Amino acid sequence: MVDTIRTIKLLGKWGANMAVGKRRPLVAVFSMTHYCNYYCPMCPFGDPDKEGQIKFAKAHDLTTEQWKSIFDKVAKYCVWCIVEGGEPTSRPDFMELVKYLHELKMPVTLITNCSLLHTIDLDELKRNIQFVTCSIDSVFEEPYCKVRGVNPQTYSRVMDNLQLLTDHKVPHYLNSVITKYNTQEFIDQTYFDRARELGAGAVSLTFVEDRSDVDYSLLPDAKTMKEVSRSVLDYMKKPGALPLMIPQEYFEQVIEHGRTVFDECGVWKSIFVNGNGTVMVPCWKFNSPENTYNLLEKSVDEIWSAPQWDIARTCHDCKVLGCIWYSSQPVTTFARNYMRGLSKIISQEKPELAEAI
Ligand SMILES: C[S@@+](CC[C@H](N)C(=O)[O-])C[C@H]1O[C@@H](n2cnc3c(N)ncnc32)[C@H](O)[C@@H]1O
Repeated sequence: MVDTIRTIKLLGKWGANMAVGKRRPLVAVFSMTHYCNYYCPMCPFGDPDKEGQIKFAKAHDLTTEQWKSIFDKVAKYCVWCIVEGGEPTSRPDFMELVKYLHELKMPVTLITNCSLLHTIDLDELKRNIQFVTCSIDSVFEEPYCKVRGVNPQTYSRVMDNLQLLTDHKVPHYLNSVITKYNTQEFIDQTYFDRARELGAGAVSLTFVEDRSDVDYSLLPDAKTMKEVSRSVLDYMKKPGALPLMIPQEYFEQVIEHGRTVFDECGVWKSIFVNGNGTVMVPCWKFNSPENTYNLLEKSVDEIWSAPQWDIARTCHDCKVLGCIWYSSQPVTTFARNYMRGLSKIISQEKPELAEAI
């Protein structure tokens, strides 16, 4: 259960800060470790040198106590947090850390590749988090293995682990990063049918945001991106469709502009804490020593007063990254989608009321 009083108090504090011109984070993202057991070509944690990655993680990952002290700091601001990485479930103290967040009354979304979920007590997990976001870019073996750089055994393990989530009634939804390797299942909409069979309560989608540190692009061509977007919009209109966590405006903009559009980047609304406790201002794209602050040493207030936040006021570098687009939307987009969601829920129970909405 989410503590409503805590949420309202924190939203009030956030609003009061905004009223005096102080922007502060509302959502926390904890990148719990530099290690990931996957090889995704779109992700910096997909580094094929796993030995080197393990060494680096051992030397630089925060300890249990250090993470707890960071959680204490951040819980004074944020209404929700996202636990990711690297692969967060690879940390031996993973459950201890999510338990600690739960004790702080911080609602948690866990983002995981799901490959290690069979090693975790899922009943205990369910008691300590709100949702699991399962990174399932494709629901078919071949494209899954291509996008994620893993073998068919790993795919099979992940599918079994999704069943475990269903069996243990852990609320979960599927998230797909759409690359040139997995467009077909969105064009023919088979992804959504399979997601339902896999027990997902909803689906979230984003086109891949190409990395700037590699010389290849994984983005589908413009025509295919439009085809995918049209098909997703068509699916959203179908009665009984699975809820989609990215509003239709995202796909409409991709069709109209070939990318998403927004006035001002909303990256400042989240605090993204790296595996070593640093925060980059305004974000990972501006990775340099002068833009890097250590949250173990500095306060959130100090970091959020940094001059580099001004960069985000005019930066439009992220072309299609769903989370950045979402955080950069005006309140009206959220309100419209809230009403759409409400209308959908009601139409399944009271169709005449849905008409009125
Ligand atoms: C960095 S991973 C960490 C958590 C975990 N290892 C996992 O695979 O879910 C978090 C999410 O970022 C997504 N991601 C990674 N690289 C991306 C990119 N270039 N564009 C969009 N999403 C990306 C992944 O697919 C995953 O859903």
